[in-house]
Formats: sequence, C-alpha cells, structure tokens
Amino acid sequence: MLKGKNIVIGLTGSVAVYKICELIRLLVKAGCNVDTIMTESAAKFINPYLIEELSQNKCITDTFERVAEFDVKHISLANKADMFVVAPATANVVGKIANGIADDMLTTTIMATKAPKMIAPAMNPNMYSNPIFQNNLKRLSEYEDYIILPTGEGEMTCGDFGSGRMLEPKEIFARIKRELSYEKILKGKRVLVTCGATMEDIDPVRFITNHSSGKMGFAIAETAVSMGAEVTLIKGNTTAEMPYGLNVINVKSAADMFEAVKANYKNADYIFKAAAVADYTPKEKALNKIKKADGNLSIELKRTDDILKFLGENRKEGTKICGFSMETEDLIKNSSKKLTSKNVDMIAANSIANKDSGFGTDTNRITIITENGNKELPLMTKEECACEIIKTLTEM
Ligand code: CTP
Repeated sequence: MLKGKNIVIGLTGSVAVYKICELIRLLVKAGCNVDTIMTESAAKFINPYLIEELSQNKCITDTFERVAEFDVKHISLANKADMFVVAPATANVVGKIANGIADDMLTTTIMATKAPKMIAPAMNPNMYSNPIFQNNLKRLSEYEDYIILPTGEGEMTCGDFGSGRMLEPKEIFARIKRELSYEKILKGKRVLVTCGATMEDIDPVRFITNHSSGKMGFAIAETAVSMGAEVTLIKGNTTAEMPYGLNVINVKSAADMFEAVKANYKNADYIFKAAAVADYTPKEKALNKIKKADGNLSIELKRTDDILKFLGENRKEGTKICGFSMETEDLIKNSSKKLTSKNVDMIAANSIANKDSGFGTDTNRITIITENGNKELPLMTKEECACEIIKTLTEM
C-alpha cells in the first residue's frame, strides 16, 4: 500500500542515526522511493554512501561540495515528497524548524515542502525533558502538517535512563504506513476491537484456550487506526506480532473481557468482535494444582456470557457492530444465524477448512454476511480483509 510513495528522510546528528538503515530498507522493500538529506553532523556518525546504497538514490549532504544542481534538487524533493520524515531528529533541528530557521539543506527543504512532516526525536533524557525543547516540540505539534512521534524509555547510549530514545525503525515504518495507506474515512470515530484467545483457568497451572493468534483483530485495529479512528483494543492471549502504539487493554478470561467491554463499549461508533471467546469455563477454579489420580478426570464447565449478544442488545443508537464467526461446517448457515441471534449488523465468517485461512495464517477467506446478503471475498491478506470488513460496515 506504500508502493510508489516518495519518502524523504532527513537524518540529523544523533547516535540513533544508524537505525535509519533499517527504516530505509523497510520502505524500499514496501516499494517506496526513498530520498535522503543528511546534516553535516549526521554525516559524522554515518557515511552517506551507505545510505545511498540502501536507498539507491543520491544522499544530499552539506558536506559535499555545493553545486547549483543541489539547489534545484532540494526544491524538487520538497515538491515530490509524499511524506517528509526527520529521523533521528535532534533538539537542534527541532529548535530550528520550530523557529523558522532554514540554514542548511535539510531545514531549507523542510521549509519548502508542503508534504506532511513526521518528526522522530532522539536525544538524551535531560535534553528531551528540557522545557525549551518541549516548547519547540509543542509549537510544531500545533501545525496540522507536523506529526510528532513519541519517544521510548530506556537506557541511553550515554548511560542515562529516561525518555528520549527514538522509536524503533519498524515502528516509524508503521506510522508512515498509517499516514499514507488509507483514506481517513474513520476520522473522529471511536472503534472498539477485541482480539485473541481467552484463557480459562482450571487450576493455578492449567487453562482452557483456543488457537486464535490475534492476527485478524490486529489487522482490524491497525487498519482502523490507519483510517483515522481512535481505537481501543481489548486483547486476550495472542501469539502474533502486535501493532505499535495502540491503546491496549489486556485481559485473560472471557469474564475479564466482558468487564473490559462493558467499561468501553458505550462511546464506540464501530465495534469489531474478533476475539475467540470461550463459551465455557470451569465451574470451579481449583485453588491448588490438581494432582493426578488413577482413572479419568472430569471437569465441570459452565457457560460464559455471550459478549457479542450483550453488545447487540445494549448498543447505543448508531453504533454498528461486526461479529466474527469461525466454522468447520455449514459456514454460511451457522454464521447467518449469529447475525440475528446476536442482533449485529455484520458477521465476518471464515471457514477453517482451508490451510490458507483461519488460525494463525496471514491470509483469510471471508464471507461478509449482512441482512442485505452475502459477499464472498477471495483469498486475501488479513489486512486486505480488514479493509473490506471496515469499509462494508461503515457504508451500511
Ligand atoms: N462471542 C462473544 N462471547 C462469547 C462467545 C462468542 O462475544 N461468549 C463472539 C465472538 O467474539 C465472535 C462471535 O461471538 O464475534 C461468534 O463467535 P463463535 O465462537 O463463532 O460463535 P458462538 O456464538 O460462540 O457460537 P458457536 O460456538 O456455537 O459457534
């Protein structure tokens, strides 16, 4: 979805500059055209030739002899950029941009571009918390076309501990993708997503669960964020890699998930209930580990609450709800029943009869069931499915 996008990266003088190699690699792999501009101090940390090798484009740097061609080039970069990323962004460059100083190739190009500008700060915790820097950052964040990325916490190269660590390349990549991949059709909307498997304790050692990896729910959450929504993700046990920077509420059992949903569903405009929730839980959880004995063991199970049904019956006016259904037989018949019995707008049904669809796969074969009929989607990536599911629900 980033294919053909022009990304310009401005690299400044921070130790974190080496991480930009990975960011460039991810962007190039995704089909982007990557151009780079380095400040003089960035070029002291890393050789521009390496950046050129990775991006397959000339890296503009002030350390190179100035030729007239560069002046033209920086304006053409400013014009062609779909996104301008300053990473790592030092206190110095943030200060310059926030105060309208354009005294080198990078800051001049930023001044000239109308593209959205993403700033990924990287610095020592004391510099990061300095009120002068924070004021500059705040000033930039007040402009609509500036996206200020948060920083991580941890031990810095200098040995200090605190905020100021640049986001990891994978995360910066995900943020770029979010900005550029989809039309922002969910801007101003609140979306609630549940995902993953619930775990029902038998005793302090064992539990009952299922094979849900969380991939489909993650794809819905990530795509909804990319479409501009404010997303809350209620997450059971998952094995898939979690998208970055989401508002996540971790739960364990079906009962925990129900409580979290009850506390968060009221403001939601759209609800996607992708979690695989246990229908039964042990009637009693043993306080101590159950010791083996001769013969078989029976564990009595009791029904859990049907969370989706609760949502269908208690939703506020205007909230649209999509449930998910996974079947091994009679997919359409069984899933269609859930549309009415749970009073929801849509069921995304998928069969686990095929190896390329269902638990843990990257692809799915979904049939979207609504009262208007069924739409059978071809084999798609879970992200493509998520896009179709969200669009169909919002267009209803
Ligand atoms: N669901 C729920 N609460 C439960 C069980 C299921 O909210 N206790 C939701 C799931 O998150 C999913 C939908 O209901 O969105 C369908 O789940 P599924 O397990 O396919 O169906 P069930 O309603 O559990 O029915 P059955 O197990 O008989 O197929």
